[in-house]
Amino acid sequence: MNSNIFIIGGARPNFMKIAPLIRELERQKIKFKLIHTGQHYDYNMSKIFFDNLGISKPDYFLNVGSGSHAFQTAKIMIEFEKVILKEKPKLIIVVGDVNSTIACALVAKKLLIEVAHVEAGLRSFDKKMPEEINRKLTDHLADYLFVTEESGLFNLKNEGIDSSKIFFVGNIMIDNLLTNSKLARENNYYKGLGLIRDSYGLITIHRASNVDTKKDLERVIKTLNYIQSKIKIIFPIHPRTQKNLKNFNLDEQLKKPNIILTEPLGYLEFLNLMMNAKFILTDSGGIQEEASYLKIPILTLRQNTERPITIEKGTNTLIGNDFNKLKMYVDKILSDSYKKGQEIEKWDGKTSQRIVEIIKNKVL
Ligand code: UD1
Repeated sequence: MNSNIFIIGGARPNFMKIAPLIRELERQKIKFKLIHTGQHYDYNMSKIFFDNLGISKPDYFLNVGSGSHAFQTAKIMIEFEKVILKEKPKLIIVVGDVNSTIACALVAKKLLIEVAHVEAGLRSFDKKMPEEINRKLTDHLADYLFVTEESGLFNLKNEGIDSSKIFFVGNIMIDNLLTNSKLARENNYYKGLGLIRDSYGLITIHRASNVDTKKDLERVIKTLNYIQSKIKIIFPIHPRTQKNLKNFNLDEQLKKPNIILTEPLGYLEFLNLMMNAKFILTDSGGIQEEASYLKIPILTLRQNTERPITIEKGTNTLIGNDFNKLKMYVDKILSDSYKKGQEIEKWDGKTSQRIVEIIKNKVL
């Protein structure tokens, strides 16, 4: 089938959401073009995911790189506008809540091109998070809003978005997880690091609210120090966290026998570490969902989550900055008295099929 669809990816958490869409479009022989904004550019923040997830080379690489929010967003807009004027797509598909998501949606809408937003409706109600601004604005621009969980339906309705634009399709990241789970399980990455199944904690921390000031990073280090006194931990460090640890002269404080530090990992390696961990400590959005699906206990170092289903039905607990709460939940997990988690509606590996069906009916 001939068509003119753009799929936009820019930062690490986008790639696991676009991969299942690409697979489904290819399976149904629907043509599309892939645009990589270059918001993330290091090998282990970007290219490794293309390799791991079998995503073909982008048709356009905008090479925008890092910068302040305004700089990065503006640069994506300027570069993306050139491509869109040349190619005149019928629809662009954006995912998640990163700067690339809002930048491309805004450019497309001003040129009267339809926008689909995958992972619509999530709200943390915390406007201090750049991601909250990105997701809310993108939803209000979009023509097709693909929702992962029930709270998203409720939020969009509350904001007055026309229900004919809203589609409850489930969680596309779970499609990706299911496609790759055999490979991830079998790579036994954790064993190569000398780890034992169910005997380590996996850490990911990179949000501005945890790593951008010295005080916050010291709080995170105190937390990690407590955990490593109880169980071995592995911490693949995001470039933003790495940079700030160095700038605040705190990097030496994580050099402990019970802490393994690594570069950011590929999808299959990270999934293997998640599957075999005793628990996960994070401030990521997507990892709250993946861990809930896998029924691995997860503690989130944030005051709020835009993914409340992971608390209601999944294995997630919000810890915020409360050290005593953290200690209590780590102890619960280590003594096997933590909640077990339940199945979540439409997190079943069929989300990309549902999305492509809707696009075929409504757009093509
Ligand atoms: C971005 C997203 C966030 C997502 C996260 C996942 C926004 C507003 N934030 O945050 O929602 O959870 O990605 O990774 O879009 N850097 C590198 N190499 C890279 C990428 C970044 O060194 O490949 C460094 C840059 O110097 C930059 C810093 O990391 O200053 C932060 O990168 P940036 O893209 O601004 O945001 P993230 O914190 O990664």
